[in-house]
Parts: sequence; C-alpha cells; structure tokens
Amino acid sequence: MSRKKLRPPGPKGPPIIGVGLTISKDTPDFLTRTAKEFQDLSYFKVLNLHMYYLCKPEYVQHVLQENNKNFYKSVKYKFLKLFLGQGLLTSEGEFWLKQRRLAQPAFHKHKIASFAETMTGDASDMMAEWEKGIEKGNDVVDMHREMMALTLRIVGKTLLSKDLKTSSIDIDTSLGYLIADIFKRVHSVFDIPLWVPIPRNIGFKKARKVLDDVINKIIDDRLSGAETGACLSDRQEDLLSMLIGAEDEDTGEKMPKEQLRDEVMTIFVAGHETTANALTWTLYLLSTHSSVMTKLKAELDEVLDGRTPGLEDSRSLKYTTQVIEESMRLYPPAWIIERTAIGDDKIGDYEISKGDQMIMSPYVMHRDPKYWKEPNTFDPERFSEEGSKERDRYCYFPFGGGPRYCIGANFAMLEMQLVLASICQNYSFSVKEGFHVETEPLVTLRPKNGMPMVLKKISA
Ligand code: HEM
Repeated sequence: MSRKKLRPPGPKGPPIIGVGLTISKDTPDFLTRTAKEFQDLSYFKVLNLHMYYLCKPEYVQHVLQENNKNFYKSVKYKFLKLFLGQGLLTSEGEFWLKQRRLAQPAFHKHKIASFAETMTGDASDMMAEWEKGIEKGNDVVDMHREMMALTLRIVGKTLLSKDLKTSSIDIDTSLGYLIADIFKRVHSVFDIPLWVPIPRNIGFKKARKVLDDVINKIIDDRLSGAETGACLSDRQEDLLSMLIGAEDEDTGEKMPKEQLRDEVMTIFVAGHETTANALTWTLYLLSTHSSVMTKLKAELDEVLDGRTPGLEDSRSLKYTTQVIEESMRLYPPAWIIERTAIGDDKIGDYEISKGDQMIMSPYVMHRDPKYWKEPNTFDPERFSEEGSKERDRYCYFPFGGGPRYCIGANFAMLEMQLVLASICQNYSFSVKEGFHVETEPLVTLRPKNGMPMVLKKISA
C-alpha cells in the first residue's frame, strides 16, 4: 500500500487552483506572510505544481550550490524562453556549461577593468543631457528610464561594441512590454499559446521583433565585417567576437546564428534591466536618507576630490559599495529565484520528488527579522567588514549562488559604483512631489510607473 507523502505545512487554497489566485495578486506579500507563519519550509499547491518555499539559508545553499545538479530552472522559465530562447539564463546541463565557459572570459576581472572608462564616459554624457534640460527649465527626469538607457548603452558598448543610444527608447518600450507580459503569463491560471492570434500575442510578437531586429543587425554587421561606429576602433575581443569565434570542441563547428541571437538577447536583457533597477532604487533610498547621503558624499570628496571616478577608485569607495549592497538587500532586482527538482532529494525532514518546484526569495530572506536587525531600515553599516562578520552566506543572495551565480556580478558592481559616484558628485535629487513610489514585482523588481526625480546641479 502506498503511503501518502508527508509535506511541510503551508497555506491552503481551493481545490484545483490551490493558492494560484492569492499568490498572483501580490506575490511578495504572499511570500512574506507565508514565511512569517510557516517559517523555514512550507508547501503549497498552484494548479498541479507542488511548490516548496525555502526560507532557511541552509536550504537555499543546498538547492543553488550543494546539490545544484539536481535542480533545473523552474517550469516558469519556459515563458522567458519565448523571447530569450536558449541563452545562458535559460539553458541547462552540458549545453549550458559549454556556453558558460565560452562567455566567461568576457567577464574576467581584467576585461571588466577595461570597461570603466566607458561606464563613466556614458554617465557623463547622460549628465550633460540633464544639464541641457535644466538650462531649458526642465529639471525633472524619469530616473528609471535614464538608468535603463544608460545601462543598455554600457552593455552595448562594452560587450557588443555597439552604441545603442539611438535605439534605446524602442528597446526600452519593447522590453518593458515583454517583461510585463511574461509576468502575466507566469501567473495566469490558463496559458494561451503564442501561436493563437489574439491581440496580446500579436503585441508580444511585435515587441519581440523590435528586439530581434536590433540584435540580428548587430550580429549580421559583425559577421559581414560591415560594422561602423565610434566604439569599434578601440574594440578588443568582446563577448560577441568570442561567441562568433568559438568552435565546438568535438565537431569544430561555429555557433549557429540562432544561438548567437539567443545569447546576445540574454546579455541584452539580463545585463541592463537588473542594474538599472538597482541603481534607481539606490538613488531613491539616498534621496530619502540624508544622513547616508552626507556620509557617501564625504567619501566621494575624500577619495575623488572632485575628479571623475575610475577603476583605481573602486576599492577605496567602500561606503559607496555598502550603500549599493544595502539597497539590493531591500530591493533585490532578482527578487525571486525558482528551480525544478529533476530527481528525488531531501530538504530538511521532507522528501521531495522529481518535478517539485523550489521557491527562494531574496526579497523575503533579505528582510527576515531572524537574520537582520530592524530589517526594514536602510542602514549601509550592515555591510561594513564588522557588520558582515557573522552573516550566513545565503542570508543575502542578490546575485544567486552556486554554478549559476550571475556571470555579470563584478561587471554590475563596478558599473553601479562608478555611475553612483558620478551622479552623487554632480547632482542632488529628490522624488517629484506628490509621486507615490511603489514596487512592481515583475520578472525583476521595478519601480511602478518609473521614478520621476527633480535634479539640482551641485555647483563646483
Ligand atoms: C544588479 C545587477 C544584477 C543582478 C541583481 C543580477 C542578478 C542575477 C541573478 C540572481 C542571477 C541568477 C538567476 C538564477 O539563479 O536563477 C543572474 C544570472 C545571470 N546574470 Fe545577472 N544580475 C545583474 C547584472 C547582470 C549583468 C550586468 C549581466 C551581464 C552583463 C548579467 C548577466 C547574467 C547572466 C547571463 C545570467 C545567467 C548565468 C548562468 O546561468 O550561467 N547580470 N543574475
């Protein structure tokens, strides 16, 4: 006689749907409440999916690192594949490993170091536009849009040697549409396949085509040697040339164009949206915490003394780094990480089986009072050497963990340091009066309706 499987306790929902409707209304709130009530490990059902929700650092470490081979990206990734294809973020197993090894050299420390000048240069260009706007009497910018355009331009120039300034609005609009749509698909009870010609699917394909056209042109130009543009002259080997030049160890074949498209699309999306969100939230937090801002500025004065920040400053900008880390604690851009078990395993006292879904939420773990004193307070001192001493590695995981750890983490940290330092040296900023700041937890944690901010140039 088969025994009924013992599951952890957890929230219940109506038959068939399970907690599907509740979770889709406000996922971070649902996860926060569930963690509070059921603690380290809970279980719930969403339709036919068995969800295990892991709120203990040890369990997160088990899934992402120790037994990572038993966990693939979750079933929900099939939606992301609708526009990312089989790139680094969405592929699995041997194929993923091969692609990761090919891409890795583009992210080595010495390679990233050579990007510093582009990062500060593009930040300066953005601020020059701000100055022009202020001169014309327009001192309000949507900081989220600004950060999206800036990080896109940086990724384009450094990894693809392409200046995407002129296409950034189209890309931003299409990407925003796709991300919002994917989120709806993930949380809708019934999925309507993309081939069904309903307006929503037509809109999806249209937005995807905008991105495809930009990416295919970048690849075609490179393949045909017909590139033009300022950044080419000083291009060394970039990510795109590494991918194009790579040959299969066994067959000697080059990467098919469709695969190049998927990898470039992935870098495009993963490489700018997350960083833009983190920067926007950091600027927002700074604008509402004057004592932190004062301390940050004191560091900038001491380290930079009015100069443009550069690679050589990144080690010395300690408090700036702490501010970024603390901001990603409260607003982790990748606020939820999910996996599917591909074989049987054990989490705590509970057996899990092939097909079971694991949910881990940096957003909830980063605010859990078991691991953080006054968790809702913005306090960068937590990330000082002293403050970080006792912390468990998996209490804080904005870049994930294990072999699937974010390939762009060092890139993003340098970029955020340099951009933040550049902005705070030159501008003070505050959220436009009357604007209500709200999170929008889609695939990433975005600010809902942007972040309108009033700028004021700091006189020299
Ligand atoms: C603040 C900025 C960023 C954050 C918070 C972030 C976060 C993450 C997280 C949490 C993962 C792991 C997802 C999982 O395990 O399911 C990831 C993976 C990835 N990230 Fe980032 N990321 C950031 C910036 C970047 C940048 C700048 C790039 C590229 C230029 C990048 C490219 C990628 C790629 C390609 C993967 C997939 C890696 C793999 O599976 O091998 N990310 N990122």
